[in-house]
Amino acid sequence: MEVFTSIPSLRFFLNQQRSNGKSIGLVPTMGALHQGHISLLDKANSENNISVCSIFVNPTQFNNPEDLAKYPRTLEADLDLLKAANCSVVFAPTAEEMYPESPVMTFNFGLLETVMEGASRPGHFNGVGIIVSKLFNIIQPDKAYFGQKDLQQVSVIKRLVTDLSFSLDLVICPTVREISGLAMSSRNQRLSEEEKATASHIYRILSFAKEKILGGGSIELARREAVDQFSAIPEFTMDYFEIVDLNTLLPLANLKPDGTNAICVAAFLGPVRLIDNVIF
Ligand code: PAF
Repeated sequence: MEVFTSIPSLRFFLNQQRSNGKSIGLVPTMGALHQGHISLLDKANSENNISVCSIFVNPTQFNNPEDLAKYPRTLEADLDLLKAANCSVVFAPTAEEMYPESPVMTFNFGLLETVMEGASRPGHFNGVGIIVSKLFNIIQPDKAYFGQKDLQQVSVIKRLVTDLSFSLDLVICPTVREISGLAMSSRNQRLSEEEKATASHIYRILSFAKEKILGGGSIELARREAVDQFSAIPEFTMDYFEIVDLNTLLPLANLKPDGTNAICVAAFLGPVRLIDNVIF
């Protein structure tokens, strides 16, 4: 496994690989890796000659300085995990390498960023747009792998690829869950075992709402009952609970028959903000 921290040396290496006809799969991460990331890497390994995992806690996508400071950083353990998972290349740059100057460009993803994560975390998707564009330009992957857990991020990145004509395929992979149903997330590292047990109610309540709707219940009633269930667990502070059209991310009035319905939730468990979703 090759580890690069500088952009020119990574570019030089990947250009050589490309000229030898090797295909490149990119798994962008912010580190604190877990089995969800490894599932993306496994997929990248199975579909490309070279897998590149980037590890960079991107400051421009954090609107809360405390969240950035507390974001788990576990580079040594990440490298061990990636080596064991047969990752070909790790790109772990410093902030100075990625941002020699603060970017002046801004991204505006229109309606896609006015709801849910976009509304709760102003500037977040601008930062995601910047860093993902930079990674795509530096690495020039044939395919890039993202997890469905970040549903709104997936919508934004699809739009980024379309609008800027990036020449790559996006591969969106299912959310990997603990046996309890808790979606794997780097932020789970900040939870105690007891808090993880509480956090598993997120998926239980999402599944409850989904089953209610699929069983013919009204969307508004399912939403209200789900929100009530969250309110009954005092450890949670709800940020949003939205039942949306997967294509527009706007609230859904009626169930669509084509599987493009999604329920998205963000909730604080103490200081830790967790998100999850189900698509049906
Ligand atoms: O999903 C993440 O971990 C990050 O938002 C990403 C895509 C690596 C950009 O920093």
